[in-house]
Amino acid sequence: MKVVRTVADLRALLPREGVGFVPTMGYLHRGHLSLVERARRENPFVVVSIFVNPLQFGPGEDYHRYPRDLERDQALLGEAGVDLLFAPSVEEMYPRGFASRVLVEGPLTTLWEGEVRPGHFQGVATVVARLFLLVRPERAYFGEKDYQQLLVIRKMVRDLGFPLEVVGVPTVREEDGLALSSRNVYLSPETRRKATVLYQALLAMKEAARMGKGVGEALAEGERVLAQVPEFRPDYLAIVHPETLLPLSRWVPGARGIVAGRFPEVRLIDNLEVYP
Ligand code: PAF
Repeated sequence: MKVVRTVADLRALLPREGVGFVPTMGYLHRGHLSLVERARRENPFVVVSIFVNPLQFGPGEDYHRYPRDLERDQALLGEAGVDLLFAPSVEEMYPRGFASRVLVEGPLTTLWEGEVRPGHFQGVATVVARLFLLVRPERAYFGEKDYQQLLVIRKMVRDLGFPLEVVGVPTVREEDGLALSSRNVYLSPETRRKATVLYQALLAMKEAARMGKGVGEALAEGERVLAQVPEFRPDYLAIVHPETLLPLSRWVPGARGIVAGRFPEVRLIDNLEVYP
């Protein structure tokens, strides 16, 4: 695996075609590696980027303490058969005077995560657009764990006509259901045990749907589960349309349960298809 830190070196080593791309912020876990495996299977040449993107963090968020371990990440990606790792500095990605932003408007970016983290999706869309233009992939891989992010990127790609396919890859979970996330390292052992409550609430909503209950009842089941863990302060729990993310009053195929909120030491997010 070649490791490059500059745009010039990236350009020099990129093939003209056949590139599968996995953008990440590093501190890799099995979820990231499942994206890499999928990219490996579907593309002759795999590029991974590691870049903790300051534009997508709000004031008071964890940009400065976001976990970083490039050496370990590099070893994991080498073993996973990645061809090229692009790990630019902030100055390389956003040279002095960089002033452009990519904005996807509408409910996809104003609801849910967009409401709790204003400007977040503009930061994500800006860095992903810039990375797509630098790496020129045929396919790009994103985890379903950040389901809203996946939809925002799909929308940007469709609207702006980026010539690539966006591939969503299922969430990887710990045995007890906790969705893998680089931020799980912030969890104390006690909170770690309670952190499964997000998945438990999603499962309760799915089970309610399976039993023939309506959307309102299913949501109430999920809320009951969350209320059992008072240390968890939900930002939202909702049952939404899988493409528009608008709240549902009746079941539609693929209806998605979404949940996010805070434990004292970390904010967590999860989602699940709750209605087939
Ligand atoms: O999902 C992430 O890790 C980031 O939001 C992404 C897509 C790499 C953009 O910085």
